[in-house]
Amino acid sequence: MTDVACPGGDLYHRYFERTGDAFLIIEGDRFVDCNDATVRMLRYSTRDALLQVHPADLSPEFQPDGRPSREKADEMMAVAREHGSHRFEWDHQRADGEVFPVEVLLTAVPREDSVMLHVVWRDLTERRRLESDLRQAQKMEALGRLSSGIAHDFNNLLVAINGHAELLVSDLSDRPEEQSCAEEILRAGNRAADLVGQLLAFSRKQVLRPRTLDLGDIVADMAGMMRRLLGEGVATDVEVVDRPLWVTVDPGQVSQVVLNLAANARDAMGGRGRFRLHAGCADVDAATPGLRDPLPPGTYAALTATDDGQGIDTVDLPRIFEPFFTTKAAGRGTGLGLATAYGIVRQSGGSIGVISTPGAGTCFTIYLPLAAAPEPEVVEELAVPVPSMQPASILLVEDEAATGRLVRVMLERAGFTVHVVPGGEQALAVLAAPGARFDLLLTDIVMPGIDGLELVRRVRESDTGLPVLLTSGYPADFLAQQGGVPADFDLIQKPFSSHDLVRRVREALARG
Ligand SMILES: Nc1ncnc2c1ncn2[C@@H]1O[C@H](COP(=O)(O)OP(=O)(O)OP(=O)(O)O)[C@@H](O)[C@H]1O
Ligand SMILES: [Mg+2]
Repeated sequence: MTDVACPGGDLYHRYFERTGDAFLIIEGDRFVDCNDATVRMLRYSTRDALLQVHPADLSPEFQPDGRPSREKADEMMAVAREHGSHRFEWDHQRADGEVFPVEVLLTAVPREDSVMLHVVWRDLTERRRLESDLRQAQKMEALGRLSSGIAHDFNNLLVAINGHAELLVSDLSDRPEEQSCAEEILRAGNRAADLVGQLLAFSRKQVLRPRTLDLGDIVADMAGMMRRLLGEGVATDVEVVDRPLWVTVDPGQVSQVVLNLAANARDAMGGRGRFRLHAGCADVDAATPGLRDPLPPGTYAALTATDDGQGIDTVDLPRIFEPFFTTKAAGRGTGLGLATAYGIVRQSGGSIGVISTPGAGTCFTIYLPLAAAPEPEVVEELAVPVPSMQPASILLVEDEAATGRLVRVMLERAGFTVHVVPGGEQALAVLAAPGARFDLLLTDIVMPGIDGLELVRRVRESDTGLPVLLTSGYPADFLAQQGGVPADFDLIQKPFSSHDLVRRVREALARG
């Protein structure tokens, strides 16, 4: 370090050399000195090599606001000379060409015949990355809230639309033209119900029915379906190692995640290529590449889907999990596949990693927490229901009057007797009335006052042995927080078709 730059002597010199910020001295328009941190930050081989470079050549041609770096640098230095110091943000360029953001503090030190500029740079790369991760997380959170709000409201509307369309379809068998109109309504309604289901999955407000299962079994069961989905032009390898891989998940949801990944791979490969699905254990730590949301370090069940398709553009990569983000032509993609997968995996306590090379292929890894082996299941023989002369009688608890009416019609058409009450309190009163005889309690979950879960608890306490089937269109947050409805509660998700409803009611009656 030259003596001009070191007026405070040895102590200052040591500080100059040791600090992690880059320190530089500019005199006129040349560097006269810098510390080691500057050499490291700019990735030059030696201090002398760096000092040979003109200050203007350490910046890209333009700054982020579009102004030429040279012109703007002159202006910044002029401000520092005039006011004594100046703090601002700047893009610099390392020796290998990488552009990176720094915070700059220029301090003017007047000398006899000139003004010396003392420069401090602080690398902002890491801070910017954290800010961008935070922004991304907040955006996903906000989109999640928005989509769950929409999904919940639409679900209830869809119960009415699809349910009534279904009743029309069955009533109009002697008027084929009108019947086909009703069928169209039903088809569109069912597609809408699928979309709403995907939105609910993304917003992590779905009622999951987790069970502890071997991930290897789920994957092996899906191999055939996946090969059909990918088509004959794609060589598909499915490999499961480290069995059993116990995970606590909703098996239907995990299958959906795998199918979404396979469908994306198929589209990326244009019908030709190689797809590999691999399930095994993997260690996760801070260095795990491409991990979307951090996980506590440890060993996880890992499901990896690799394709050799077109890859994902670097600009698109941060957005692929957003709902409705798609690069596919209109009608080809909705942009909900990965958003759904993301929601399901996050709600199951896991995370997703993506690595993609444009032009070469993409690799998605689903990490799920490993679970303890489950207790062996006691297989209960299903009692063969004794045909009864009396139609089964159902107590239906539903706070939405229109839904209550519709479900009653669906069930009555299937030959059941139905008594509808608008809430948990009324249900308890009806059940306690002398002579009450019901074969099934069919109740909505989220209702004002005594909700469905509380109602079922109280009914079970009274030990009547009454079978129960829960319905849900508004899966409440508290259910999700508890990891879903308790496994021994039977649940049918709204919107449902009358066919599904009647089947589930019959099953519940048979079990009871
Ligand atoms: N394996 C992959 N290879 C290349 N790009 C992919 C891959 N997987 C996802 N993408 C990109 O991410 C985008 C979002 O994927 P996502 O599955 O969410 O929606 P989509 O496939 O476009 O539509 P949808 O799944 O709703 O039919 C895709 O449009 C595509 O650009
Ligand atoms: Mg997709």
